[in-house]
Amino acid sequence: MERALQWIVVVAVCASSSIIHAAGIDEAPHRKLASVDYSDVISIDCGVEEGYIDRTRIQYEDDDNEFGEIHSISDNSFQNQPQINKQLMSLRSFPEGKRNCYSLKAKQGKNKRYIVRGYFAYGNYDNKNKPPTFDLYIDVTNFTFIRFTVANTTRRVEAIYFTLTDTIDLCLVNTEQGVPFISLLELWPLGTASVYQDLLNFQTLDLLTRVTLGVSSADDQLLRYMDDNYGRSWLARELTRNEKEMKTTLGIDLDTLNNPYKLPTEVLNTAVSALRLSDSVNIWRSYSDTSFEYKVYLHFFDFEERVDSSEKRIMNVIVNGFGEGVHENVTRNISLSYNQLLTLQLTVEVGMGINNIFIKATPDSHLPAMLNAYEIYRVIPQSVSATHQDDVDAIKRIKDIYKISRINWQGDPCKPTNFTWDGLTCNAMNPPRIISLDLSNNQMVGEVPEFFAKLSQLKILNLSRNSLTGSIPDALIAKSKSNSLQLSLDGNIGICQIGSCKKKKNIVALVATIIASIVGSIIIVGIVMAIRRSLRKNEGEFFCE
Ligand SMILES: *[C@@H]1O[C@H](CO)[C@@H](O)[C@H](O)[C@H]1NC(C)=O
Ligand SMILES: *[C@@H]1O[C@H](CO)[C@@H](O)[C@H](O)[C@H]1NC(C)=O
Ligand SMILES: *[C@@H]1O[C@H](CO)[C@@H](O)[C@H](O)[C@H]1NC(C)=O
Ligand SMILES: *[C@@H]1O[C@H](CO)[C@@H](O)[C@H](O)[C@H]1NC(C)=O
Ligand SMILES: *[C@@H]1O[C@H](CO)[C@@H](O)[C@H](O)[C@H]1NC(C)=O
Ligand SMILES: *[C@@H]1O[C@H](CO)[C@@H](O)[C@H](O)[C@H]1NC(C)=O
Repeated sequence: MERALQWIVVVAVCASSSIIHAAGIDEAPHRKLASVDYSDVISIDCGVEEGYIDRTRIQYEDDDNEFGEIHSISDNSFQNQPQINKQLMSLRSFPEGKRNCYSLKAKQGKNKRYIVRGYFAYGNYDNKNKPPTFDLYIDVTNFTFIRFTVANTTRRVEAIYFTLTDTIDLCLVNTEQGVPFISLLELWPLGTASVYQDLLNFQTLDLLTRVTLGVSSADDQLLRYMDDNYGRSWLARELTRNEKEMKTTLGIDLDTLNNPYKLPTEVLNTAVSALRLSDSVNIWRSYSDTSFEYKVYLHFFDFEERVDSSEKRIMNVIVNGFGEGVHENVTRNISLSYNQLLTLQLTVEVGMGINNIFIKATPDSHLPAMLNAYEIYRVIPQSVSATHQDDVDAIKRIKDIYKISRINWQGDPCKPTNFTWDGLTCNAMNPPRIISLDLSNNQMVGEVPEFFAKLSQLKILNLSRNSLTGSIPDALIAKSKSNSLQLSLDGNIGICQIGSCKKKKNIVALVATIIASIVGSIIIVGIVMAIRRSLRKNEGEFFCE
């Protein structure tokens, strides 16, 4: 018997918001836990000054964002929630700047999918009793916004994101409706699993709801289980009419189960079933914005033992099969086998929206409809392309080397256009390229590095009125001479202007001359010594050695 520690975040769901309030320890027999590898997971407890490992074994990093302010929430602001999670008791707010970002390292590298997750607990930290509304971007994609219907609620957002680069920026964008803030930020790799979407699909999935069924003891709570490989939390939903709870006490061996979505044990071993063969299991969720495509994932794990092994469970799943004004629906028939996991993925095309989802046994089924869990996502197309990676790399190196700390030098350098970094001009190509860079009057010291030339489309480079020293890299001189680059270096006293520096060849010649003369001197000294020695031998006792 193993004891499973789970942490429970309790959420009262009001619209898309949730309230957090309890933590608990659960115990269940015969449960086998798959171990989760946290080494590639990033969890930043925003607003804390020191990292820690909490009792779920997750390493929380401190928050070293160079911008923003840190705040904590007083216990009173969550009066009905005595066991509020530690991670939500502090936050970072961003009163300055239009776009503020956290740059996260994608530890499993680029061209992979990750879950980006944020928690937002306002808690009246600013004593204004007025929670803000703001947009959230992943890199250049505006994937959702944060709004609180009630000040004392908590919001969780989650996106499944395919990254083309080694870092993922999560950006909070001020929409002039209050100061953006964040409480907790997480990045979980999805690994190589081909779940949730095709690997070659660059769209972002924005989580609308994720529900586990049959856990009535935890109604309206968000549950995060220790054996969830992706750190997902699951909303426990109450039963609807004509449904009953199903639970198995049989052990589920996660190591041998074919479980591509890596569903945790607790999600697998509870479910709801329709009371009668003629009843349906219903999901009453309405997503009426028909300008989006939606993805629905229905998770079935049929653990009900059959009296007779020929008993079948065949179900008809229909999206939008009920209600007025519904013109199109999505229909599928599925058959479940005992102790096998099935995830049904449904695509709800643009123009349809979701009103309801019904699951009903077909006339030839012996067992009523059932369902363990479901997830619904909104598909966010990528409408803007990020700056060319070579330019991003070059400008980030320039930023690091000269320690340029400008509040708007965060996120993608060129896009979206409203947030293009100060001093940069980008062209309208796809992907965009940096075509001019003005770093004049910037107190830059040191040499002019060669990699400015890596900005291959750069037409104007203004480095005037800094304190740069040394010579200008040949690559820049060449570009400037061929008139492909307009280079300004006025007012840098320590710099050798074009033509005024000795060419490298001359330096080589000079060095060669110096070396030659040193070698020459050594030979002469040697000869003199040799002569002296032979003289000494002749003079006998004259020198003492
Ligand atoms: C949240 O605030 C509302 C009123 O603003 C109050 O009725 C409710 O009890 C509060 N909920 C909690 C969990 O504190
Ligand atoms: C970003 O997306 C949200 C919806 O997710 C929308 O409300 C908001 O207006 C968008 N912001 C911009 C600047 O397009
Ligand atoms: C949608 O479902 C309803 C009810 O099951 C049915 O009457 C209707 O014909 C369906 N519409 C389409 C386009 O399949
Ligand atoms: C599903 O099964 C029902 C009853 O067996 C049948 O009427 C219906 O046409 C089937 N639908 C699909 C999409 O196969
Ligand atoms: C860009 O800024 C303008 C004016 O401030 C605003 O109306 C527009 O929504 C912004 N667009 C984006 C994508 O943020
Ligand atoms: C470079 O910047 C300086 C100072 O801002 C300005 O006076 C000068 O005109 C700029 N040069 C070019 C070529 O844009």
